[in-house]
Amino acid sequence: MSDTTYPDTPRIDARDKVRGATRYAADDARADMLHATLAIATIGRGRVDHVDTRAARATPGVRLVLTHDDADLAGLKTAGFVMGGGYAFQNFQPMLSPEIAYRGQPIALIVAETLEAATEAAALVGATYTPAPIQVSLDAPAADIVAQADSPLPKPMFADVTAGDADAAFADAPLTIDAAYTGPPQHQNPMELLATVAEWGDDGMLLIHEGTQNAEGVRQGLARQLGLTPDKVRVISPYVGGSFGQKNSLQMQTALAAVAARCVKRPVKLVVPRAQGFHDASFRPASRHRMRLGAEHNGRMVALIHEADSQTSRHDLFPTQYASLTARLYDIKNVRGRERLVRTDVQTPGYMRAPFEHIAAFALESAVDELAYELDMDPVALRTANDTTTDPISTRPLSSRHLAECLRRGAERFGWPRRHMAPGSMRADDGSLVGWGVASGAYPGSTAPAIARLRVTDTGGVFIDVGVHEMGQGVRTALAAALAARLRVPVESVIAEIGDTRGTPQHLTAGAWGTATAVPAAVEAAEAMLDALRRLDPVGAPERSPAQILRAAGRASLDVEIWRKAQGQPDAIFGQLTQGLVAVAGPEYPEFVTFSYIAHFVEVHIEPGTRRVRVPRVVSVADCGRVVSPRTARSQVAGGVVWGIGATLREISEVDARFGGFLNADLADYVVPVNADIGSIEVDFIDEPDPLLNSVGVKTLGEVAMVGVAPAIANAIYHATGRRLRDLPIRIEHLL
Ligand code: MOS
Repeated sequence: MSDTTYPDTPRIDARDKVRGATRYAADDARADMLHATLAIATIGRGRVDHVDTRAARATPGVRLVLTHDDADLAGLKTAGFVMGGGYAFQNFQPMLSPEIAYRGQPIALIVAETLEAATEAAALVGATYTPAPIQVSLDAPAADIVAQADSPLPKPMFADVTAGDADAAFADAPLTIDAAYTGPPQHQNPMELLATVAEWGDDGMLLIHEGTQNAEGVRQGLARQLGLTPDKVRVISPYVGGSFGQKNSLQMQTALAAVAARCVKRPVKLVVPRAQGFHDASFRPASRHRMRLGAEHNGRMVALIHEADSQTSRHDLFPTQYASLTARLYDIKNVRGRERLVRTDVQTPGYMRAPFEHIAAFALESAVDELAYELDMDPVALRTANDTTTDPISTRPLSSRHLAECLRRGAERFGWPRRHMAPGSMRADDGSLVGWGVASGAYPGSTAPAIARLRVTDTGGVFIDVGVHEMGQGVRTALAAALAARLRVPVESVIAEIGDTRGTPQHLTAGAWGTATAVPAAVEAAEAMLDALRRLDPVGAPERSPAQILRAAGRASLDVEIWRKAQGQPDAIFGQLTQGLVAVAGPEYPEFVTFSYIAHFVEVHIEPGTRRVRVPRVVSVADCGRVVSPRTARSQVAGGVVWGIGATLREISEVDARFGGFLNADLADYVVPVNADIGSIEVDFIDEPDPLLNSVGVKTLGEVAMVGVAPAIANAIYHATGRRLRDLPIRIEHLL
């Protein structure tokens, strides 16, 4: 573990991005390219009896129309579910049969000379259906509910967490909270739409240009779908225009675009419009949580029972880990989690930023606030009184935990000591009710294996090829900052060659493990490079740059390669890595457990007449280990706070139980915060390196950033009004 600290490096791709020079998949606009669109099912479930494509085929400019009846699709296979040894976000590929699993599912693919022609033709596709009854909500009376512990999902990963005897401890506890909380379905809505450009080379090579967090998984999954060997597929994803879990595995449109390109023998571009994206990719499932908390009179929490029900599809079990977070946030000796999955007629839900932790923290940290009021104890003091250095579930030591320092520092920066505990006791000059709320968050410290190839050249170039994807989080900047510091070269000289399956294995970048996976691998490659340079340079003048050493030695370039895996991972993990399978370790490692932590302090103002909630001020202090790229790290946290505000006060994917699908499938009706909704967001970091997780001391950040924002806002609303709101999103009508 190194004690290097890192300077505030500007985002290295910022200039290209603001100039529009960064090329995303859909920016490809070659003259010979054809455009594809999808026609979609308009029933909630059932089968399509006949797809009428006559008008679509007669539309001028149309070159191809495919439905499930076509021989061209006959050989296509499913790629398997990403959480079941496969590669796709769900184990269901539309258009292989007449089956309709959910509203919005594609039923026809149109390819035309122009996007306009393809769009017009898609609108002319007609269909007759035999509908089946649907269940789309958690409360559907005949819902099929699967206990995760009894399901085929792999154990112990998806077993219920337990420690001690939670039911007995809860029954004996002098103070108890027993409350239910809910979270709605939500959609990621990254700025970059789902988009694939597919083209076949004369050599039979399939080239896919698509924004994805998982280029290797897309390559392997497509090869499986199309019956090709993986070496016949190349996937390129140098930049992703936001993703947040939506693009973490093979999508439904990719193979369709590849088949279409094979049929027409020209490149095909398929951009999934925003409204279709609500049904063509994963989303945050609806969930409900019963939270029971028992405590002593001195504020020591002694029992936690967290029962969660979460929406899944009919064709997959999307596994959840809600209680894995709540069981581990505090030193509670008796815990019992229980996760159940409710089958509904939707596409398979998936990972959306802080997938379980956001809503689990809403439930737990709201309940902790309720407990603070039961005890008449300051909410910060209650949290620090339940601190721990040991993981309550595995009883292994936490590799690092500075949550109490996050709370102390945040309280000081926020001015928390000036808070009056009583609800409704603070007012702004304009008469608004003022509320101050606090909540903690945590997120697992996971690690993926990586192979890093580093090349330095005699002209001063530094090229790093390592498995990670740039989704806007700033990993290119983090790689450049870390290598520049270690090799003592200018930041601008470091070029990251990432997101291309022609390089090293491009493992899924998700779960906030990107930096903690790629940067330590790159830094270890830099150490190997420095050793190799020393061997080349027996004189050993320490101020000589790599380029100078190479020139003196008459070498044009020098390459090193290192293989890095997490503590406890077997060497066989590299086999999984090269097959594009998820190969992640953590948060439990053989000798320790790793989490990142955060504390959020929120001020809300509530207008007395309209009851409109505003969030003028947030202070967030994060413990993510060493901060390698301070500027992009601050942006990550500010973005997470903005998202937390949206997730608490705005975002819901509306469902009508009669029709299925999602109703408000565009950014006019799926409401997210705008600039005027956001006030001051102050971000600070503990910046203490984790001593065990990796040599750089970096943990995870992108996801923990938004964990705890929702309960901090809800707790602030309680403080302002005395109203305890346990269902998200919180809206004006709940405060009238
Ligand atoms: Mo993330 S929600 O694991 O991309």
